[in-house]
This record gives sequence, C-alpha cells and structure tokens, in this order.
Amino acid sequence: MPESVFSHVDGSGDPNELVRYLDATKGVQLFRELGRLLLAELRVGPGSSVVDVGCGPGTDALEIAAAVAPRGRVVGVDASSIMVAEARRRAAGRGLAVEFRVGSAERLDLPDAIADACRFERVLQHLADPAAALREAARVLRPGGQVAALEPDWTSLDVSGADPGVVRRVLDVRMAAIPCPDAGARLGRLLSEAGFEEVRSLELTLSGHHPDALRALRLDAYAGAAARVGAVTGAEAAALLSALDGGRAGVRATLHLAAGSRTARAAQRPDVATRRASSTRPVTPSLSNAVDR
Ligand SMILES: C[S@@+](CC[C@H](N)C(=O)[O-])C[C@H]1O[C@@H](n2cnc3c(N)ncnc32)[C@H](O)[C@@H]1O
Repeated sequence: MPESVFSHVDGSGDPNELVRYLDATKGVQLFRELGRLLLAELRVGPGSSVVDVGCGPGTDALEIAAAVAPRGRVVGVDASSIMVAEARRRAAGRGLAVEFRVGSAERLDLPDAIADACRFERVLQHLADPAAALREAARVLRPGGQVAALEPDWTSLDVSGADPGVVRRVLDVRMAAIPCPDAGARLGRLLSEAGFEEVRSLELTLSGHHPDALRALRLDAYAGAAARVGAVTGAEAAALLSALDGGRAGVRATLHLAAGSRTARAAQRPDVATRRASSTRPVTPSLSNAVDR
C-alpha cells in the first residue's frame, strides 16, 4: 500500500513536487483565508513567540515572523530536512527572527512553557500519534498560550459524477495511506484531551466542480497510486481524472479548524523535566533563548 508522502517527505520519490504542491495550495484563496483564521486564533502580535509544527517550506512561519517583529520570534519545526532546507533558503537575507529546525512533532526539542502560540496546519493527519503532538504543544506553551490547528477530515471526502466503484477504490487507497485520516473530525476532542481549555472549532464543507480541487486534494496523485497497486486499472484512473479535470465530477470534503488555550497547569514531558532539573543553566522562559542555545 502507498504511504502518505507527507509522513516521510525525504524518502518520497519527489520531495520538490511536494514543495510545489504546498506552494500551489497557499495560492488558493480559500487556504489563504483559512490561514488568516488560524493566525487570528493564535492571538499573536508584535513580540509574540510562535512555534509552527510541521512547517513545510516555511511560508506561514515567515509570514508570522514578519507579524511578530520586531521582538517576536518564530521556530518552524519539520521532520523533513528537505522542507527545512527550503524554508531556511527562503528565510535567508530577510532579517526575520525565524529559525527552522529538523525535529519531530511528537518530541519537540524545546523547553517547557516557552511559546505564546503553537500552530499545526495539515500536519496531525500525517502523524501516527496526533495526541502526542498536541501534548507536546501544551508542554511548550506558556499558561494561557494558544494552540490552533487546521486539518481535513478525509473520511468525509466524496466524489460525484464519476464511476462510484472507481472512486471508492481510489479513496480506500488514500485512506489506508494516511495515518490519521479523520484528524480533522477529531480535532476538538483531541485538543480537550490534551488539556486545552476554551476549545473553539469551525467546520467548513467544500464542494464544487473546479479542477483545482482535484489537485488541492491530491486526487490526481492518489488515482495514480491506486493504479500502481492494482486497485484500479490505468484506464479507470485516467477516466476519473478526465471527469475531474473536465469539471464533470464534483468533490466534497470537510475541513476543521480548532483552537484552544493552554491551561495554567500542563503536563511536563518527564525526560524534559529531568533534564531541566539537572541542568545548571538557568531556564529562561523565552523562545529566543531556546533558539539561541
Ligand atoms: C501537508 S504538509 C503541511 C506543511 C505546512 N504546515 C503547510 O501548511 O504548508 C505536512 C508537513 O508535516 C511534516 N511532518 C510530517 N510528519 C511530521 C512529524 N512527525 N514531525 C514534524 N513534522 C512532520 C512534513 O514533513 C510536511 O512538511
């Protein structure tokens, strides 16, 4: 079965294609507006410190770094060294207080209570344990800090106006590839379970016949993957793509945005607590100290 390429960007066949895909989605007005909503939920301003988990090529981290300047700071963390290298390349020479690090969402290399806000955009779905990543967000946030996340619910994805059997088999391949396809639908509950308070959420159903939807939802890539594993024939995949490209088929999918506040008392990761306790260096709760280490 094919794996979600975003769970292992560096080992995927063509990481640069994934960078181009992310750039293309950032050009879609809907995603830009959702990005603005996500930013509003982070409640940041000049001087804030922000962590962008699963930052990809850094588009949002760079935008936020400009918004929190001059004294604010952004750290972008991504599991892919290719994404991080691209983000660093884009940041070079811009004079922004932003740093990009290779790291794991489930085990952030940041001290406790260091950030004012933490964001996830289209990341939790690619993790085997999204709850662990949200617990890490709670750990690195200061009391009262904000988390905000945007994720699709792939289980809601439907395609009309094309052969339903072919659609089902392509979507089954896709569903099997994504570690947490219903991350969007579970977002509010995941935030509450990670200890966030004042959880607010927004559900948005997209539907339409626009050929861009095909690429924004990566249906073209998954039709190809389904053909490669023999779930559909090449001719069936081509017919589905032609129906979508030609605007004869429509797609429908639900996206979820949720945000919450870190409680006054959040769990510490035991090993981090131990490291801090045995360190002689004073722990200053500021992201700039964390990134300057
Ligand atoms: C769909 S992309 C979204 C990128 C960016 N947030 C955006 O909206 O453009 C998902 C990103 O999550 C990263 N990722 C996947 N698993 C991760 C993990 N365990 N820890 C950190 N990042 C991870 C991928 O490398 C990829 O850059």
